[in-house]
Amino acid sequence: MASCRCRRWRWRTVCICLCSPCIIMALLFLYAGLVVCMRMNAKSSVAVPTTETTHFVAPGTLRNKSFASIPKKFWELHQNGDAFWNSLQLPIDHYFSPILHLNKKKKEFSNTRFSESLLRQSFSKVTDLESRRTNFDKLPKQIQDFVSHMDRRDYPTLIQPDLVCGAGAKDEKEPPLLLLAIKTTELNFENRQAIRHTWGQTGWVAGQEGSSSGGYIRRVFLLGTENHDNQQVKFSELLQLESKHYGDILQWDFKDTFFNLTLKDVLFWSWFSRFCGQTHFVFKGDDDVFVNTPKMITYLQDQLKNPEAEKTMNSFMIGEVIGAATPSRLNNSKYFIPESFYKGLYPAYAGGGGVVYSGLLAKRLHNMSKRVHLFPIDDVYVGMCMVRLNAFPIHHYAFLTFDFSEKEAKELCSYHTILLVHKRSPSQVIQLWADLKETQAQCWNVTLKDTDEKEEVKPEELSPEI
Ligand SMILES: *[C@@H]1O[C@H](CO)[C@@H](O)[C@H](O)[C@H]1NC(C)=O
Ligand SMILES: *[C@@H]1O[C@H](CO)[C@@H](O)[C@H](O)[C@H]1NC(C)=O
Ligand SMILES: *[C@@H]1O[C@H](CO)[C@@H](O)[C@H](O)[C@H]1NC(C)=O
Ligand SMILES: *[C@@H]1O[C@H](CO)[C@@H](O)[C@H](O)[C@H]1NC(C)=O
Ligand SMILES: *[C@@H]1O[C@H](CO)[C@@H](O)[C@H](O)[C@H]1NC(C)=O
Repeated sequence: MASCRCRRWRWRTVCICLCSPCIIMALLFLYAGLVVCMRMNAKSSVAVPTTETTHFVAPGTLRNKSFASIPKKFWELHQNGDAFWNSLQLPIDHYFSPILHLNKKKKEFSNTRFSESLLRQSFSKVTDLESRRTNFDKLPKQIQDFVSHMDRRDYPTLIQPDLVCGAGAKDEKEPPLLLLAIKTTELNFENRQAIRHTWGQTGWVAGQEGSSSGGYIRRVFLLGTENHDNQQVKFSELLQLESKHYGDILQWDFKDTFFNLTLKDVLFWSWFSRFCGQTHFVFKGDDDVFVNTPKMITYLQDQLKNPEAEKTMNSFMIGEVIGAATPSRLNNSKYFIPESFYKGLYPAYAGGGGVVYSGLLAKRLHNMSKRVHLFPIDDVYVGMCMVRLNAFPIHHYAFLTFDFSEKEAKELCSYHTILLVHKRSPSQVIQLWADLKETQAQCWNVTLKDTDEKEEVKPEELSPEI
């Protein structure tokens, strides 16, 4: 600027002298900005799958604090990699990350065959490592058993409903509102009978008294196989008979153990995607719960009437949501997961006692399950698939997987205020169903529970053990 003696000249020249460098700089920035923009546009139009509804969720990132642990320092992000499950899953999550792999083809993102082969690859890569094998021997027996079978999910179907989506398909005048999918075992015949005659009746079922709603209900029981000491009774034959009579048995040829329950989700989703095209909702739960089906029907009909329903059904899941739970590290617990197997918090998940989700979400979960290694605890596994779909379960206080408070239990209408309560024996279920009908007149218009009257429990204490 020193050479510019322009100030002695006219003002206009002064302006030009001073401003031209600014103008040149501004143009330069504009140009650079345009180039960057064009690059990004060009990339995103090829790379990011636009129709695919799944989203990449980076490990450690979240929408709010209740969903997962946040590493305090960014370099701690991948430290979980030495735990067995984390190291299996990490390469797959990376593979499907549109951030890390901008140029990946859309076809690969939606090709489920390809996802399956990727799972197998990562499994053999990790388990072939010598260091892994020595660590493997240190895992508890139950986890070892899980690991040695976790790359298999194609178990044959032994019994299934006759090419239809569960019992109750007759004379339907509209697509079924709800399919009840109930986890049970061969020996729990009594539980199944209680459910069939009470809250699990199929066909047209009316909603709550005073509402004009109602819907078609279907039912299916999900089973594996068991070895019984008593060889004189052939359980498989009894189950065949039961299936012939009720048409609601879906049994696969794997051992019905706690750590194999995730297979029931994965195989159920696969069956559902094939046979249940039109079904609006799925209830998936245990055979020792009590469901207030009329209230459930009215509640779900209301969800469908919501003007936003088409959008919300994409990721609709409701239940008792457990956020940011830590894996149980007590080695005498049924839910024991050692740190050498899984590190980090669990994603938000709905308690497995009973959860309701949309049929559309069931199909999306089916697709996503091909990109997520099996995990020994079934409801946590569903949460792991959900977070990878960028979907989150909704908490509803009327799902009582932790039961009533003492005060509430004594109230006349308490069972009219809930959608589900866990841990009821078959005889209790029958009694409760009768009570529900009997108290109908007094209780027909009570509203669903919408607050938690129990004392506040800190999230850390809500481990899945309860
Ligand atoms: C987290 O988000 C969910 C849904 O977006 C919301 O219901 C929940 O209250 C949030 N939790 C916290 C702690 O903000
Ligand atoms: C799961 O089922 C398979 C097939 O029956 C069985 O071999 C395996 O031991 C079971 N896994 C666990 C953890 O019980
Ligand atoms: C279980 O944990 C306790 C202490 O936490 C330990 O003493 C014991 O050896 C463990 N048992 C097994 C089977 O690992
Ligand atoms: C599941 O994946 C298949 C392709 O493998 C695709 O045709 C289908 O639309 C997907 N379903 C959902 C609900 O995303
Ligand atoms: C239920 O109905 C009774 C009369 O039958 C009425 O007094 C009461 O206010 C109603 N309660 C609610 C919550 O609507």
